[in-house]
Amino acid sequence: MDMSKIRLSMVSLGPSDWELVTIKALNRLKSVQAIAIPTKNKEGSFERSITFKIVDRLMQEYHFAKPLISVYTPMKFKHSDWLNQAQTLQEAVKEYGTIAFVTLGDAGVYSTVYYLLDIIKEQNPQLYERSEVIAGITSFSYASSKVKKPLCLGKSRLELIPLIGEEVPSTKIYMRPSVGMQTSSIKDEGEIYTFENLCFEGEHIQKSKISVVRKYMTLLIDFVKPAKGDVA
Ligand SMILES: C[S@@+](CC[C@H](N)C(=O)[O-])C[C@H]1O[C@@H](n2cnc3c(N)ncnc32)[C@H](O)[C@@H]1O
Repeated sequence: MDMSKIRLSMVSLGPSDWELVTIKALNRLKSVQAIAIPTKNKEGSFERSITFKIVDRLMQEYHFAKPLISVYTPMKFKHSDWLNQAQTLQEAVKEYGTIAFVTLGDAGVYSTVYYLLDIIKEQNPQLYERSEVIAGITSFSYASSKVKKPLCLGKSRLELIPLIGEEVPSTKIYMRPSVGMQTSSIKDEGEIYTFENLCFEGEHIQKSKISVVRKYMTLLIDFVKPAKGDVA
């Protein structure tokens, strides 16, 4: 994707330490015309917003300033709230040309970002095509580093369990394959993708399961399909 075509960047800010913001996220915040920040109060005050504090610190440290747009985010998991937030973002893109919407941790982990992108994909497919998501450090990667304990090592694996009082299906990440390995034993329960050589020469992403592993640097992710109207 030609980066000059991007109009909406969903930017992960990491666990709240401004030094744990990626260079890519910082570069995007510096290059967009305005930054959209989730706020929990209707008045749009940034006073208690954690993401505002990170963005504000970055603007001071790196000497840049951008108009800030408040996106009222009550965290009630209501579709009507996400519709309003998606509308705010679409209006902001119209007004400013390019915007970044910021989120804590990584956008791929329980973030509003994908509720909003789903709505934008339906309402404004052109904007969806011109959007991107920038990855960030998760709260649990940071937690692991704080106590110097691995999240998974050797013959162990990582489980991520939402404390919502019910059993839920899992996205599954398969890693550490051996070259030449058949993938027939890997179940395809959601929407499985193969990722090879990410960020390296020959990066290859396909929307299916590769049948035989060609490279050690291969990840398969079977993305869970959340139920429509999914909450919490
Ligand atoms: C809506 S999820 C967002 C997760 C985030 N996108 C990430 O990548 O870590 C919020 C949950 O993440 C965990 N969390 C996020 N930031 C945290 C922090 N600074 N300290 C402890 N837990 C945190 C808590 O379990 C919290 O309830």
